[in-house]
Amino acid sequence: MRKMLVALILIVTVCLCCRYSQNTSYADSVLPARYFDVPVNKDTTITTAKGLKIEIPNGALKAAGSRARIVVREAFTLADMVRGKLATRTGNDALCSGGMFYVGAGDKDVKLLKPITVWLPTLKQVPGMKLYKGDVAANGTIDWVDPTPLPEQELSEYLKEGQVLFRNNCASCHSTTRKSTGSALAFLDQRRDWHWLEHWVWNSAAMIGGGDRLSVYIYDVYNKTAMTAFPSITTKQLHQIFDYANYEARDIDPNTIPDYKKQMDSCDLYCELAGKNKQQVDSLVDIYSHYFAKEEASNWATNNAATVIVETQRQLYYQTNIEAFGWHNVDILSKNLPGFESSSLVVSAPLPGNTSLEVWLLLPGKKIYLNGYMKNDEPNNFIFYENDEQIPLPQNERAIVFATGVKDGKDYFGVGEFITSRNNKYALKMVPTTLDSIAHWMAGLDTMGINMTVRETSIAQQLRQLNGSAAKLKQVRPQNCNCKEYDALQKQKADTAYERLY
Ligand code: HEC
Repeated sequence: MRKMLVALILIVTVCLCCRYSQNTSYADSVLPARYFDVPVNKDTTITTAKGLKIEIPNGALKAAGSRARIVVREAFTLADMVRGKLATRTGNDALCSGGMFYVGAGDKDVKLLKPITVWLPTLKQVPGMKLYKGDVAANGTIDWVDPTPLPEQELSEYLKEGQVLFRNNCASCHSTTRKSTGSALAFLDQRRDWHWLEHWVWNSAAMIGGGDRLSVYIYDVYNKTAMTAFPSITTKQLHQIFDYANYEARDIDPNTIPDYKKQMDSCDLYCELAGKNKQQVDSLVDIYSHYFAKEEASNWATNNAATVIVETQRQLYYQTNIEAFGWHNVDILSKNLPGFESSSLVVSAPLPGNTSLEVWLLLPGKKIYLNGYMKNDEPNNFIFYENDEQIPLPQNERAIVFATGVKDGKDYFGVGEFITSRNNKYALKMVPTTLDSIAHWMAGLDTMGINMTVRETSIAQQLRQLNGSAAKLKQVRPQNCNCKEYDALQKQKADTAYERLY
């Protein structure tokens, strides 16, 4: 009897221990697991549907039999990060994530004996990224700790080919990072609709002749200089050229390279407002709401294109070596990035009598995702560094705040967005909802892609201060802006020319 009791206690203790050592994160329970049976005595490379490549050398895995089962989870998109509550935080500091993944044992007897190499697909390679390990807290949230530099990244074959294509075809008129006979090529693939880019390079004269607004605008900016047509260049080769240009520009703040599409949007907006002004439409509210709606529309469109590309065409990766199973995150400390400034941020989410109110901040362009902390003695107000309203934020970027809570057994949700500045205060309105509609909203975040950067056009600040007066409006006419052309094009409904091309 005593023996049995001892045995029982032993079993219970062992079970408690193994449960404890599993250390399951919240993300494990919500993000889908993919299982792979890997031969233990052979070099093996696995590629997941989302493009993660895992190289497992002979003898790196140990298992009871000849195959070891491993489990992989991925959080590359904003929606995955939000669903898995995978905040991008190391201690109190914010990280910009290049992607998170989990590699673990799929069976209890599987062990990792030697490092394995994991290649994380990315749209652009940000220098200075490090590999952080996930430290799972008792409540299932993850802190990212123990950063190690990524191994030396070589110019891959893919990028070398891009370099040759660029030198042979484009370098006579284009630099990757500076304006010369034509625009700098870096970041263009993130700033233009991909189909537009292809059609431009294949035959820019046809686009200009067809009256496409953007083509005509850029042609005018460059004093009607003709660009050579490259009708036989392939989609893959173009990706290689732009990926190479982005690689060359890896140390450059994109905001220092002008974007003529943004300039044109400013111009069109200006022309539209100027036109409206004549008709005495001077309601400020109208002007503002219109301005933001327009900015949004163009940015969302660009973005959707980028999301698709990452899965089909690109071959850019962060290479990492992992030595232990668990969550990993390729990240960079946000406060060290160009364009971040110490800014105050307070978000209010009033839901008196609630239980479990959570407030989150999301910066889609930088892949930053932070949980809020309740401000001392102000239960409605949330801040994003512990005990500090100040936090480094990129300026003029789209920020999303949202909150979830439960009150009297009912789920509540509030969401809103703003453009970041040095002082930010946002009041969320909490409304009753269902978990289904929250999940639906989260799924929509996927279309935001990885590289979304929202900047206000150069005249945005001035437009804000406008009070409907035509005289003041004239003072903010953007560069390269000719409203006659805009009006004429409006009449012709010129956009259709571009649509007809494909
Ligand atoms: C003979 C000179 C010349 C060559 C060669 C050339 N370009 Fe251009 N490119 C231009 C000029 C000039 C412009 C500006 C628009 C205009 O005046 O046509 C331009 C504009 C562009 C634009 C649009 C810029 C923007 O701001 O949207 C893209 C994209 C582009 N070029 C890509 C390429 C690529 C890719 C190659 C090589 C495959 C290439 N170009 C080769 C002269 C050239």
